[in-house]
Amino acid sequence: MKTYNCYIHIPFCSSKCKYCRFASFSWFSNLKIQTYVDFLCKEIIDFNLEWVILDTIYFWWWTPGVLSLVQFSQIFQTLKSKFIFSENVEISIETTPANVTIENLKWWKNLGINRISMWLQTLNEKSLSEIWRDSKWDIIWALDIVKNVWFSNFSIDFIIWLPYVKKWEIIENIDFLLRDYDFIKHVSVYMLEEYYDVPEIKESKFDNIVYPNDWSNLWLKEEFFSLEYIEIKDFLQKKLFNRYEISNYSKPWFECKHNIWYWTHKETLAFWLWAHGFLNNIRFSNSESFLDYYAKKNIEKEILNNDDLFLEKIMFSLRTSWIDEKFLEKLDIKKINYFIENNLLYKKDKKIVLSDNWVVFMDYILWEII
Ligand SMILES: C[S@@+](CC[C@H](N)C(=O)[O-])C[C@H]1O[C@@H](n2cnc3c(N)ncnc32)[C@H](O)[C@@H]1O
Ligand code: SF4
Repeated sequence: MKTYNCYIHIPFCSSKCKYCRFASFSWFSNLKIQTYVDFLCKEIIDFNLEWVILDTIYFWWWTPGVLSLVQFSQIFQTLKSKFIFSENVEISIETTPANVTIENLKWWKNLGINRISMWLQTLNEKSLSEIWRDSKWDIIWALDIVKNVWFSNFSIDFIIWLPYVKKWEIIENIDFLLRDYDFIKHVSVYMLEEYYDVPEIKESKFDNIVYPNDWSNLWLKEEFFSLEYIEIKDFLQKKLFNRYEISNYSKPWFECKHNIWYWTHKETLAFWLWAHGFLNNIRFSNSESFLDYYAKKNIEKEILNNDDLFLEKIMFSLRTSWIDEKFLEKLDIKKINYFIENNLLYKKDKKIVLSDNWVVFMDYILWEII
């Protein structure tokens, strides 16, 4: 018997947020969803491994309310009939604030969901309305409900670089929320994707989403970005949230097990459209087209050899903590020394660590040293 992570992607959203660059769709009928749920369950049943123990299950990417209780239970029953859930299985769900209702919370608890990640992005009303997200009052309402129904493993997520959001505003938001809602044990702070190319990037992969032109005037100035990042980190550390990955902070014992295992190459089963998994050193992803997905066509596979695995290990090391000096001989030592001289990296004991000031350039640094 072997233990795995499991990803379930659900790409239906009650509305499409203006900035969302993922395979999520806001046009669907109940029939389309039911077809999808049936297909997913069949995919799970047909999966050709036996005696699989699931240690984490992660429901990703959706607005949970679009599935009926019956449809969600159907997926759960199928997972339970096919796999063994470990004794301490972590079952996470991602949700928008408006989907945090008393009914949903009780039902999620009954199903065994024990971790909730609520994406709120910002508490700035103007920004929320500009990006077509639930309002600040939906967010507060949701948190008040959680307080009453009680969910101990709760995460909130922000995005830096949204329009109208000012310098330090995210810190004020976090401070405000932590004062009133002590069940928040995990905070993630991501940057708006592709921000490097701002304002040039206009095209998104899905639904032809385009960042509106006038956003470029409303964004936080780029020179403040690193500073903002450092301030957020310092602030959260003072509140006893430990940074365990470049964008993720948690109180002790509340790290997301699913993510940690993903970063340490634990094998991951993945179901549904555009699902990304990792099995037998192969990374695979389903197509983002419904028809291809149903026909099991265009599944991308990337076989990782030892060199690839090593490079990923380095990448995940820098994201989560440090690179051990014993790996240096396989890296571009000249470049590493150059980055150390220029304070992008620094040495601590026998480790190479990314300097906070340069966290936003991590991808570039990795690209250069590998
Ligand atoms: C993984 S789900 C989160 C659950 C739920 N669908 C929601 O949006 O609240 C999608 C998340 O990906 C993030 N996302 C989508 N497009 C993004 C972009 N262009 N840059 C950064 N994050 C993005 C958003 O923060 C969004 O909340
Ligand atoms: S951000 Fe979340 S709710 Fe908005 S469209 Fe993307 S997946 Fe759906």
